Amino acid sequence: MTKTHNLPTLYNDNDDDFIIIAHRGASAYYPENTMIAFKKAVEMEAEMIELDVMMSKDGVPIVFHDAKLNRHTNGSSYIKLYSLKELKNLDAGSWFHPKFSDQTIPTLEEVLTFASGKVALNIEIKTEAVSNDIENSIEQKALQLVKKYGMRNHVLFSSFDYRAVQHLKKLDPDIPVALLYNRNQSRRLLPHQLVEQYNVDAFNCSYRQLKRKWMADLNKHKIPTFIYTVDSKRRMQKLIAGGVTGIFTNKPDLLKSVVQNYHLNSTTD
Ligand code: G3P
Repeated sequence: MTKTHNLPTLYNDNDDDFIIIAHRGASAYYPENTMIAFKKAVEMEAEMIELDVMMSKDGVPIVFHDAKLNRHTNGSSYIKLYSLKELKNLDAGSWFHPKFSDQTIPTLEEVLTFASGKVALNIEIKTEAVSNDIENSIEQKALQLVKKYGMRNHVLFSSFDYRAVQHLKKLDPDIPVALLYNRNQSRRLLPHQLVEQYNVDAFNCSYRQLKRKWMADLNKHKIPTFIYTVDSKRRMQKLIAGGVTGIFTNKPDLLKSVVQNYHLNSTTD
């Protein structure tokens, strides 16, 4: 029997079987993983926003990419050592440009409040926040919040840590989950074998990892495929022609124009 792959329903679907995903928001132009980057991504007509989720010391899911605060805030050391209140005092925008000094680290709840009814999300559970436990895990908390904000049908979860993927499917077998390809956990299996083994809905990898053999395998098995992080026009065109389901980009406006031109050209061919 062919497995059904559950994908999130888009609020603003371009109806072209392709998904424009703003990687950490419109992060080429705004500080990544901040509310302004997310709001601007929606204005640029991204169909989905990707964001990274970690946990504060007091167990609140927060939106941040790195394990340490140094690169993207005026704080230092590991994020897990700070409470939400402490994290909220940090400036998460000045590293990008002083005019964004009012940006703070968002909680997942803040982002869900903004996104609900507006834009689908790809919630990446960061490896640093994952453990062997399901109870009180970041996966469990994130899923509860997603449901609280009515976004269960509008999110795609993903993780490089295959334990998180398994936990999510155990908590809610129908919730859309993608495997973020991790070589160390994949034992040379082909994408379709991994997708089957972990019972996931999509396969995500870097454009650098995507081999021709993999693309053929993914197309043959009709597996939704999302490729990160692509900011070059030519690479976008190549991947769209290759049949990928969506692309993560820091420049959703550029991807939008590439997609539009691609469809214009293919209808006039
Ligand atoms: O989820 C796609 C992409 O964001 C994965 O890489 O390093 O940005 O978490 P990274």
